[in-house]
Amino acid sequence: MTLQDFLTEAEATERDGATALQTAGDADALEAARIAYLGDRQGRVKALQEALRGISKDDKPAAGKRFNEVRTRLDALHGERKSAISRAVVGQMEDGSLPARRLWQGAKHPVTLVIEEIVAIFRDLGFTVALGPDAESEWYNFGALNFPPNHPALDVHDTLYLEGEGLLRTHTSPVQIRTLQKYAPPIRVLIPGYAYRRDFFDASHAPVFMQMEGLSVDEGISFVDLKSTLNAFAARFFGAARTRFRPSFFPFTEPSAEMDVQCGVCGGSGCAVCKGTGWIEILGSGMVHPRVLEAAGIDSERYTGWAFGMGPARMAISRYKIPDIRILYDSDVRFLDQIAGPATGAAE
Ligand code: PHE
Repeated sequence: MTLQDFLTEAEATERDGATALQTAGDADALEAARIAYLGDRQGRVKALQEALRGISKDDKPAAGKRFNEVRTRLDALHGERKSAISRAVVGQMEDGSLPARRLWQGAKHPVTLVIEEIVAIFRDLGFTVALGPDAESEWYNFGALNFPPNHPALDVHDTLYLEGEGLLRTHTSPVQIRTLQKYAPPIRVLIPGYAYRRDFFDASHAPVFMQMEGLSVDEGISFVDLKSTLNAFAARFFGAARTRFRPSFFPFTEPSAEMDVQCGVCGGSGCAVCKGTGWIEILGSGMVHPRVLEAAGIDSERYTGWAFGMGPARMAISRYKIPDIRILYDSDVRFLDQIAGPATGAAE
């Protein structure tokens, strides 16, 4: 083949190929044009490359240069058309100017957030986390905790009794016993978990609710440890809010105290959440009764301890200024979203 013939053929290949590639109406037509011109087996560019072999040595540089131009241009036209076609397809599927649909993303429940925060604060104070079963025996739930049979303290602990021996625990305190049986002092644990009571479902009560138990047992532990630890906790959790301790009674602690924190909803002036008192009771506490230590096999002459049980849902109410505890159980995402904040990465 002469150089002239080669250049004529190159010209025709480029012109025809450009037309075919640029006018392909859809992906199938474009693929057919690609095979016809740029295909490895029978494509016309391939044929042109083979023709290059028959060109004399002197003419080869010129022919080779022209060949490269044709191939490069047709490759580029193919790429351009390909993206134009796929853009057109996407454009037909959806109006590209519409905002993306919002991604649905889960978030932690306010009570879970509060529990994690409490655990983190107490972790700094040396506490670890322990868990126990929701279905308990009467002994763990009452007997070992020094509830005498038929004692009036049982009244507020009415619950669901299971067939045979068990019941749904009315507090997380049975896990105090389980922990003391399993580990030797010094002990510092937090015990989050569900508790069950025959309570009305009202603005500040629920028949199934989260509790968070705390227990510290060692030699030489006194009420000073109880008060200073709980105040240190409250200062971190509630900031400047004031706290107060009121004498109370629990069969498993002596002496016992309830701790109140100034109502976060009204700031102490009195509202429906704090029932007009300006204070919200957040926990019961006390020095572990020697009989409880003995029931768990701990020498009460050598060891003393303090314990508390708090309601993370009540703390969530105060923290997030929620007017009614029932909202926490409704699973209404319009409410939950406000506390969880917008899910990260979601498109509006
Ligand atoms: N178990 C008690 C309750 O549910 C709370 C508590 C725990 C009190 C530990 C004192 C010590 O009401």
